[in-house]
Amino acid sequence: MPIQIKNVLLLDNVDPSAKTILESRGINATLQKEKLTKDNLVQELQKYDGVVVRSATTVTSEIIQQCPNLKIIGRAGTGVDNVDIDSATKNGVIVMNTPGGNTLSAAEHTCTLIACLSRNVPAADASMKAGKWDRKAFMGNELYEKTLGIVGLGRIGREAATRMQSFGMKTIGFDPLVSKEEAAKFDIEWMECSEIWPRADYITVHTPLIPQTKGLLNDDSFAKCKKGVKVINCARGGIIDEGALLRALESGQCGGAGLDVFVEEPPTNLSLVKHPKVVACPHLGASTKEAQSRCGREIADQIADVSEGKSFFGV
Ligand code: NAD
Ligand code: MLT
Repeated sequence: MPIQIKNVLLLDNVDPSAKTILESRGINATLQKEKLTKDNLVQELQKYDGVVVRSATTVTSEIIQQCPNLKIIGRAGTGVDNVDIDSATKNGVIVMNTPGGNTLSAAEHTCTLIACLSRNVPAADASMKAGKWDRKAFMGNELYEKTLGIVGLGRIGREAATRMQSFGMKTIGFDPLVSKEEAAKFDIEWMECSEIWPRADYITVHTPLIPQTKGLLNDDSFAKCKKGVKVINCARGGIIDEGALLRALESGQCGGAGLDVFVEEPPTNLSLVKHPKVVACPHLGASTKEAQSRCGREIADQIADVSEGKSFFGV
């Protein structure tokens, strides 16, 4: 029995291709450019049976309960931490995401942060823009023959690994759901985190933020790492404990951090962002035209498939 979807509200600057696709498949779609307050969103959603968000809008249980016409919530992206899935399930609302649509962009962004850390590119650029020509301050390190530790060997972790292998990096990694044999297919040597910490020159995390991964890198794990280890978080704020990271940067135990994500976004405490050894970005992992277009198209097709009674998978 198809769940007929007639009107979909597209929030958070979802790629316009979503509107084109939905309309071509007989579903009305409205692109809402301005951010709505919670009350305005609830009011607006009375007219819609579907909504698509990226990460800016949080779809809380309160919103779900106050919007009885809502049948489907689409997340044009990977993480569904901004949607109350339990509440959606209890209220019979389908939640869907586009998990692979931004994988390559997030992997490339991870590699960009690794390269920036190895050669001090952002700091050197800022120095030149300040009128200086300071070559001594920015001595870097080659990535060749360095070891990259990858925690989380899913879609993004694997893509980041194969790209950094082209620089000559050795890749080691851990994932409880990936076997040694599976990891070896991507030239990643599987090992427990306790073995990764003392071996890695760079550590990048690519897990969801769940109780098991919150604070995965903490004071204890930093203490087990090589002095000067560089860390990258292009996954979710909090997988690397922010307090522990700051302490490790101050002591020199951590030699640099590439951060795309933060516990609080935007962060109000800027101690990490302003730290000279940190390269920070405002959650740009999926911010490419290609990824946004892919996620927009995929979520629109998935919603139309549901409406046409085709098979689908929810979160
Ligand atoms: P994925 O589901 O393909 O991979 C995640 C992997 O983490 C899985 O293989 C899982 O088994 C593993 N994992 C779970 N618990 C673990 C643990 N305790 N230790 C080690 N590994 C563990 O997800 P993905 O698409 O690769 O995304 C990874 C992360 O990147 C997610 O948090 C996602 O939300 C985030 N992301 C961020 C951006 C961005 O803009 N910065 C873009 C896309 C995705
Ligand atoms: C995701 O989970 O897809 C990323 O964090 C990117 C985004 O939120 O747009």
